Amino acid sequence: MSPDERKAAGQALNVLKSEIETAITGRLEILKRGARAEKLAVERIDVTLPVDDDEGGHIHPISQTIEELVQIFAEMGFTLAEGPEIEGDFNNFTALNMPPDHPARQMHDTFYLSPAADGSARVLRTHTSPVQVRTMLSTKPPIRIIAPGRTYRSDYDMTHTPMFHQVEGLVIDEATHMGHLRGCLTEFCRAFFQVDDLPLRFRPSFFPFTEPSAEVDIGCSRKGGELKLGNYGDWLEILGCGMVHPKVLEMCGIDSTKYQGFAFGMGIERIAMLKYGIPDLRTFFESDLRWLRHYGFSFLDQPSLGLGLTR
Ligand code: DAH
Repeated sequence: MSPDERKAAGQALNVLKSEIETAITGRLEILKRGARAEKLAVERIDVTLPVDDDEGGHIHPISQTIEELVQIFAEMGFTLAEGPEIEGDFNNFTALNMPPDHPARQMHDTFYLSPAADGSARVLRTHTSPVQVRTMLSTKPPIRIIAPGRTYRSDYDMTHTPMFHQVEGLVIDEATHMGHLRGCLTEFCRAFFQVDDLPLRFRPSFFPFTEPSAEVDIGCSRKGGELKLGNYGDWLEILGCGMVHPKVLEMCGIDSTKYQGFAFGMGIERIAMLKYGIPDLRTFFESDLRWLRHYGFSFLDQPSLGLGLTR
């Protein structure tokens, strides 16, 4: 072609080229959309269909145990409280009578986070006790709450996982005393473990946020390497408790000359392991479906625990 012819033909070819390109992308888009629609139609799941329980989901023992706890304490007049897993240093430690230099802080293996916008320290809560603080700061007595939830400590071995669960209890009014604490926990343990005459032993102990403080053991037998709960003469520790320290009440804006009460804290994995015979803590968090099928609960077949056992 002559240079002039070449110019004209080149332009015409360019127009043609972009027309073809547009046609190809347009067609590709239509094909893609069609394929997606086809895939969606084929993989459609009708979520309203009933679940085949053999193949379907199971309730994790932790969820089940929390359900049971809540049910028992609700019947005793407790309401459910919750708090965030990321906590301020004040709520997790200081308000619980653990000032910055307190040695008890070291026992918590704390995960520290970057400070909040106002520069204050933040942590993953090391226990559910900060929910006590939040509740006292935001509500007036009488208070009667339980607070189950996730807690975190930097520790990992046979008996520790970096994330675990606790349940916290708090009762504040003008007359509640150690006798009520004892009665409440005895009632709970007997209902939860379903042993009517389960004995509880209150041993003097120390927590910065309670005075006096106690650790509670339940009766058991370890004969023949098998653990049985009941009145058999041997003891197993399951929780910490005490009368809320006046300093804690004051730091949470409650008049300690007028109000008093008790608190307790307990590991949920621990009581679940004891009740359901689960031998290894770490298996709770391995997401092994075979484990869940074995230790999990069918949602239609959950053991329900009305109290009424020992009232
Ligand atoms: N917060 C304690 C812990 O994580 C457990 C605890 C002990 C909670 C005594 C309480 C209490 O409320 O009174 O080790």
